[in-house]
Amino acid sequence: MAKINDNYLRLQGSYLFSTIGKKVREFSEQHPEADIIRLGIGDVTRPIAPTVIEALHKAVDEMGHEETFRGYAPDLGYDFLRNVISEKDFKARGCDIEPDEIFVSDGAKCDCANIQELFSTDNTIAVCDPVYPVYVDSNVMAGRTGLYDTASERYGKVIYMPCTKDNDFVPDIPKEVPDMIYLCYPNNPSGAVITKERLQEWVDYANAHDSVILYDAAYEAYISDPSIPHSIYECEGARDCAIEFRSFSKTAGFTGLRLGFTVIPKDLTTGGEKLWPLWARRHGTKYNGAPYIVQRAGEAVYSEAGRREIEEQIAYYMGNAKIIYEGLKGAGYEVYGGVNAPYIWLRTPGNMTSWEFFDQLLTQSGIVGTPGSGFGPSGEHYFRLTAFGSRENTTRAVERIVSR
Ligand SMILES: Cc1ncc(COP(=O)(O)O)c(C=O)c1O
Repeated sequence: MAKINDNYLRLQGSYLFSTIGKKVREFSEQHPEADIIRLGIGDVTRPIAPTVIEALHKAVDEMGHEETFRGYAPDLGYDFLRNVISEKDFKARGCDIEPDEIFVSDGAKCDCANIQELFSTDNTIAVCDPVYPVYVDSNVMAGRTGLYDTASERYGKVIYMPCTKDNDFVPDIPKEVPDMIYLCYPNNPSGAVITKERLQEWVDYANAHDSVILYDAAYEAYISDPSIPHSIYECEGARDCAIEFRSFSKTAGFTGLRLGFTVIPKDLTTGGEKLWPLWARRHGTKYNGAPYIVQRAGEAVYSEAGRREIEEQIAYYMGNAKIIYEGLKGAGYEVYGGVNAPYIWLRTPGNMTSWEFFDQLLTQSGIVGTPGSGFGPSGEHYFRLTAFGSRENTTRAVERIVSR
């Protein structure tokens, strides 16, 4: 008999967004006339930039000719993409990251879920609370988290690091030393950023304890404050303790195209073992490379015209963020995030639970957001709105919330 991996049975309930989807579906069925505005799921809405579309067309045409046809991509990504990433995302910011330390993939979600395979299941993990659920769930599947306790809404072996307004949504160093530390800045869901000083403290801590930081920088393109680090490698010593994940999804609207990359410095070791060759081996065994045409599209993101068009898109979303942030603040809400990140994190009014506020906002105002408690217990009494809607819908949503 084939036995299943029963760690999967420890995964909790239905995924946050399926519960939201079900509630919205039921409400629409009962109120077909309702004009619902969705500021819940973090998917982009602006079309792909023209320069990127042009690069895609060109690459598609190349595939139709014998002389320019491409088969399997190199396991770790095409040099034309890795070179430009190394130069523009890292060296231009003073980070010493070489092209061959960049592993191109089809997105950050798979990479930050799969990276834990390199580590022993005996390791302890530390996550922010609230958190992007993929970090915890991928470790549940691997059997690293222990049993789930419904009372505390926590897995027994996970170190949860509360991120609240009292610590500016940046975790304090935990009492128990974790082996693997997941950090994500700019943060989903809180929209918070981390200063270079606080990030340096984490790097120093990881180096002092031989821990590894798994740093998710999927939203770095939204940082406008020049003092905020875009990469963990801006910190001294990060090459010795950190892996970084990047995504083209929110940077350039690639949620449907799929492209991302992971950085593993060649000298990064843990317990005396280098991680680079292990990830290279895993990549080569389990992955056959992001499509050529998509990697060419990714390259175009770094061209002068591509960069300009993408900055316009980001400015559009951040214009939405400003409308939400200022509108809600003006109406007396306690609001966070939304300045260097496309997420607005608000305190629910009247101490309502996150789900109570969700239901009220849906049924009274026809607006869909995301209950903060869905991201972890410390997210209770918070609520996430995203800046990824259209300008028109964002403005209408804020008008509705303000006039509640
Ligand atoms: C923090 C974080 N990391 C990673 C991802 C996934 O990125 P990708 O689309 O590249 O898989 C998301 C998407 O919502 C995210 O919020």
